[in-house]
Amino acid sequence: MTARALRLGVNIDHVATIRNARGGDHPDPIRAAHQAAAAGADGITAHLREDRRHMTDADIARLVAEIDLPLNLEMAATDEMLAIALKNRPHAACIVPERRAERTTEGGLDAAGKHNTLAPIVERLSAAGIRVSLFIAPEPRQIEAAHKLGAPVIELHTGPYAHSDGSVDELARLAEAARLAASLGLEVHAGHGLGFANVGSVAALPELAELNIGHFLIGEAVFTGLEAAIREMRARMEAARA
Ligand code: PXP
Repeated sequence: MTARALRLGVNIDHVATIRNARGGDHPDPIRAAHQAAAAGADGITAHLREDRRHMTDADIARLVAEIDLPLNLEMAATDEMLAIALKNRPHAACIVPERRAERTTEGGLDAAGKHNTLAPIVERLSAAGIRVSLFIAPEPRQIEAAHKLGAPVIELHTGPYAHSDGSVDELARLAEAARLAASLGLEVHAGHGLGFANVGSVAALPELAELNIGHFLIGEAVFTGLEAAIREMRARMEAARA
């Protein structure tokens, strides 16, 4: 298939992680979002966790009010997060599994096993005009479940690919999942654990419409600045598509 345009969503959670380490207001994640926009990011992604370990409610409100780029709010499937999403009306919401003790989002959402919990949340977000995506493992069962839930978008978890020891062909799993999802009419995104070294193979999958990248970019920004890190990431994505 002809590759479609590939967007870059920049996840700025870890700017807030650094800010919160000292409890003040520096560095400001909203300033990072402005810089991401200047560097050509297509969207901003932020995860409001139950424990507020990085982004805060005020950050989400400011991102919606002050940033021109579309905001993709990552959220757990809870009543609290649903209410916050409906209040702030981000462009998109990505539903992720959340466990209190995890360091980051560790697995994909069980879209198949949690149909009854997810269905009303997908419906209410969609009714409010918020584009819903489900963050899932690249497994046919989960893709079919996401389709059945009526989510227009899935985000494939690239963590197992990024951390693979090579014993399983994780890239082939992503490729097959992207093909299946596209054949069902789903828009396909991907993210987690992507950096300069591994982004190319994922960006080359022609069905993908968006990558969401955070931790690596914020880490790289320490050395080169955020704008340079984002421009380099985009150049690598474009080279992989060319
Ligand atoms: N996509 C989702 C759904 C995530 O939960 C995360 C991490 O918050 C990312 C993408 C970005 O992952 P990373 O920070 O490893 O680039």
